[in-house]
Amino acid sequence: MELPETGHDPVLMQEVLADLSIRPGITYVDCTLGRAGHSSAVARVLGPDGLLIGLDADPRNLIFAKERLADAPCRVRLFHANFAELQDVLSEAGITAVDALLADLGLSTNQLFDPAYGLSFAQPMPLDMRIDPRVTQTAADLVNELREEDLANVLYQLAQERYSRRIARKIVDARRVSPIKTTDRLAELVRSAIPKRGGAPEKIDPATRTFMALRMAVNHEMENLASLLEQAPKALKPGGRVGIISFHSMEDRAVKQAFRSMEQTGFLRLVTKKPLTPTDAEITANPRSRSAKLRIAERK
Ligand SMILES: C[S@@+](CC[C@H](N)C(=O)[O-])C[C@H]1O[C@@H](n2cnc3c(N)ncnc32)[C@H](O)[C@@H]1O
Repeated sequence: MELPETGHDPVLMQEVLADLSIRPGITYVDCTLGRAGHSSAVARVLGPDGLLIGLDADPRNLIFAKERLADAPCRVRLFHANFAELQDVLSEAGITAVDALLADLGLSTNQLFDPAYGLSFAQPMPLDMRIDPRVTQTAADLVNELREEDLANVLYQLAQERYSRRIARKIVDARRVSPIKTTDRLAELVRSAIPKRGGAPEKIDPATRTFMALRMAVNHEMENLASLLEQAPKALKPGGRVGIISFHSMEDRAVKQAFRSMEQTGFLRLVTKKPLTPTDAEITANPRSRSAKLRIAERK
């Protein structure tokens, strides 16, 4: 698949603009600025009286986004931060409450392709997977240092990998021979641990689930999402809206449950009872959008 010119095509753009109620003059937070795809469109609506606060855990994407937003028609404040640090960022920006907040979870397409991140087995790369250099443990550290049982648990819990124990055993046997340092070696090990069965071959490479689980573990993705879901609704003004785009059933479940429980306590109103998903036309134009789900809630 070709890398888009900006490194990433934003998903559900019209839905974000309309259903997050983006309008001139508001204060908007993009918790996952990425390549500023959503933010550059939002900035055009905000206009000179609006304020865009953007954060990203990846300083490399942040540099790109800063350049892309250099001529934005609104005020812009950008931070190298994890969205789990949302409250700190808002305090630093001197903001007490915002009108709209978006988190578009996961990774941008350029991150998947770029060997510097060590996320892909499509080509040999050093096994890293950190999107934030402040994180200390790489995927290679986990794969070479975790106990066999803990490794199997990571694969099972984060990717529901049914062959988690076999894969963990294969990894532990292999690392006794020499440390596993590259994405292609890890992918080969995973494939060789999965029993060959008759019938149609799997649609996805069997290493995909292991790579996803390791990436989620390295970057503490579920813990950060839980922290964001705790902080984001409280950062809204009454009538302000939070939107979360997820690509993974575990993430979508966490968003759904957090919004529901805050609806039950009377703090939030659900704007989307069912998540918004891309149209067929969007999926055709951008196949990576196919698993996107957008849930939106409004502070009462
Ligand atoms: C799917 S991309 C966002 C793309 C963006 N909406 C656009 O249109 O260009 C996700 C971005 O979120 C960042 N990210 C992932 N987890 C994060 C976290 N916990 N805190 C802050 N940024 C995060 C990634 O580095 C990546 O740049």
